[in-house]
Amino acid sequence: MAELDRTGGAPAVPADWTYAPAPESRDIVQLRDRYGLFVGGKWIEASETYETISPASEEPLAVIGQATATDVDHAVAAARTAFADGWSSLPGSERAKYLFRVARILQERAREFAVLESLNGGKPIKESRDVDLPLAAAHFFYYAGWADKLEYAFPNRRPRPVGVAGQIIPWNFPLLMLAWKIAPALACGNTVVLKPAETTPLTALLFCDVLRQAELPPGVVNIVTGDGRTGAAIVDHEGVDKIAFTGSTEVGKAIQRQLAGSGKKLTLELGGKAANIVFDDCALDQAVEGIVNGIYFNQGHVCCAGSRLFAQESIYEPLVEKLKRRLETLRVGDPLDKNTDVGAINSAMQLDKIRELVQSGRDEGAEIYQPPCRLPEKGYWFAPTVFTNVAQSYRIAQEEIFGPVLSVLTFRTPEEALEKANNTPYGLSAGVWTEKGSRILWMAQRLRAGVVWANTYNRFDPTSPFGGYKESGFGREGGLHGLEPYLRFDE
Ligand code: NAI
Ligand code: MG
Repeated sequence: MAELDRTGGAPAVPADWTYAPAPESRDIVQLRDRYGLFVGGKWIEASETYETISPASEEPLAVIGQATATDVDHAVAAARTAFADGWSSLPGSERAKYLFRVARILQERAREFAVLESLNGGKPIKESRDVDLPLAAAHFFYYAGWADKLEYAFPNRRPRPVGVAGQIIPWNFPLLMLAWKIAPALACGNTVVLKPAETTPLTALLFCDVLRQAELPPGVVNIVTGDGRTGAAIVDHEGVDKIAFTGSTEVGKAIQRQLAGSGKKLTLELGGKAANIVFDDCALDQAVEGIVNGIYFNQGHVCCAGSRLFAQESIYEPLVEKLKRRLETLRVGDPLDKNTDVGAINSAMQLDKIRELVQSGRDEGAEIYQPPCRLPEKGYWFAPTVFTNVAQSYRIAQEEIFGPVLSVLTFRTPEEALEKANNTPYGLSAGVWTEKGSRILWMAQRLRAGVVWANTYNRFDPTSPFGGYKESGFGREGGLHGLEPYLRFDE
């Protein structure tokens, strides 16, 4: 037991205390030794394989298929057949029934999915349990509601499905990105070939079980696993009518070049370097919570993370001091522990990238702060980090780090905040903290960002469209806008 301090008449408090471990049980997840590819409603063996691990322990979890171009070809053929054999002409109200079923099954099996998501991806269980799973189910519920109302969503435009959608998703929100992609595609009457990211295939593979439970017709959703080569084969395939990609700006640009002139529809959701702008009239403690949620949520593996903090000069010092104190209370460690705030970095590759950029910050002259925390020996970890004394030109102020690393900059006037915030090739999201409604509106109109949060951060809702400007991509996911990329119209 920790020692107790006795101070005057005040209650006794432990001088040094830590949280007892509160691990969520893994027993609810039944892993198979190996997984094939889910094509035409059946599991097929992949000719090549690789191993997926837990980034928190480096423990191998299962053997996964690395789908080849031939495997992708089978998946596209299955999707084409399912499209022609009835799915595209099914009444919207019938398609909705499947989507409602999927949503309900996800809710019923939420704990199983949350544990698996944390195990394979490294995110804290409290996030997969309270954010990823509820939002994934909500997306299916929401788009189920649109399936029989497309004529009302787009009056006099005769909305029709596009065909086969090729969908490529990243590793930061594996199941949620799957839901963002699959739910609107199916609601609009398309069929799907989806590839999860190579480091986080397991929840997408478990989702195949949900599809069977929901009795979705075979071939409507096909899941192929593998790395960028599998992704490139999907993009390249002639039988695919639409590509939806979420991932790095680099790969997004390559896909755009590859598809130029092909007539395939394309939406890209790429990187970001969001400004979180804190004015001196805001509720400071609330802003500190928002800053922490903005950049340390999901280890900072968030495309819309508030990675550039702009503090008004008059509150710079108290803000940074409060922030540092708050950082000391963040618990870094086992993703399956219910008390964990910051989990494991998703992969060795991502950890290298974070380390490299953080080193560049030191070299360029920024001042680094990391709270004392003991990191586990095995696995991939990075302590929550704040950089002060950051110049606009430093790499840590320009490039997406995609890790738990915040760069603090300052400003004096709203005009200056705006100019600095918009001085980036990206434009996905932004945050504004102020008491004045008029200032929120003034800023929101001028910030070149797809989403602007006011006095909050990283809030998501299926009814609200999400997407970027400039190098953050184009097209919207979520809301009514999220239907459009999956439809064609007779104008
Ligand atoms: P990535 O863009 O390579 O991977 C994302 C997805 O694209 C994965 O499923 C991957 O297998 C696939 N892919 C890779 N190359 C492809 C190709 N040539 N054609 C088709 N699909 C391909 O991202 P990566 O390498 O995992 O991460 C690098 C950086 O990208 C991160 O450090 C981060 O800055 C950024 N990123 C941004 C994301 C976002 O949500 N906006 C998500 C993931 C990464
Ligand atoms: Mg890559």
